[in-house]
Amino acid sequence: MIGSLVIVGTGPGKPELMTPATEAVLAKATDLVGYGPYLDRVPPRNGQRRHASDNRVELDRARHALTLAASGRDVVVVSGGDPGVFAMAAAVFEAIEMGDPAWQALDIRVEPGVTAMLAAAAEVGAPLGGDFCAISLSDNLKSWATIERRLKAAAEADFVIALYNPASKARPHQLAQAFDVLRSVKSGATPVLFVRAAGTAEAKVLTTTLAAADASVADMRTLVIVGASTTRTVGRWVYTPRREHGTAS
Ligand SMILES: C[S@@+](CC[C@H](N)C(=O)[O-])C[C@H]1O[C@@H](n2cnc3c(N)ncnc32)[C@H](O)[C@@H]1O
Repeated sequence: MIGSLVIVGTGPGKPELMTPATEAVLAKATDLVGYGPYLDRVPPRNGQRRHASDNRVELDRARHALTLAASGRDVVVVSGGDPGVFAMAAAVFEAIEMGDPAWQALDIRVEPGVTAMLAAAAEVGAPLGGDFCAISLSDNLKSWATIERRLKAAAEADFVIALYNPASKARPHQLAQAFDVLRSVKSGATPVLFVRAAGTAEAKVLTTTLAAADASVADMRTLVIVGASTTRTVGRWVYTPRREHGTAS
């Protein structure tokens, strides 16, 4: 018997931001595989097995999920936010590419979710209203030189930049270095937003400028948004106009 594998995201935290399609997939699963805190967001169901693992073992977790599905189980791999954004969906496909060719015949699906960048933007207004990009500052799987090159290119192209994984205990200094790269290209007056626990009841927003931005404010639950040259504040909101040259006159 061939099982199935669906990769889902729980959204940024608040239960209402988990999509109904994801809830339906979770209700049908025989096995849930994921990082413990993400599994904790899923209500327990009788008969369903949970396979919690540490956050750093994505590839092992993906292989475990594929092995379960190949044995006939209906497996759901649980990520936070959207499963395709710096998360488990890519790890599953990487495991398939390197693993047992029989895994390619499995019934595999990705269910979209609300990524942190969208929840963070909604907390402050519409900072992603113009062209934007997302960069992870984690150098676990890519070099810091690559990250600096991408930051500079994004700044030169005048994108709004959403920074995922801005800091962790193992990487406390990288956000400050990233700000230095951005300051070498962008104006010091550029709005910078630190949004912690976006899309949850504990959401916290700090709005500042690139010149004044203090990297030590960010932690693992923070999403940092650095504006484009057109990004502006209106009252307590921050937005990026859709027009290249700012607002309509
Ligand atoms: C490994 S990435 C996973 C991203 C996730 N797949 C998503 O789509 O949101 C983890 C990073 O996402 C960001 N993040 C996740 N949830 C967040 C939230 N509720 N508020 C702010 N940032 C969040 C943080 O930058 C965190 O370090």
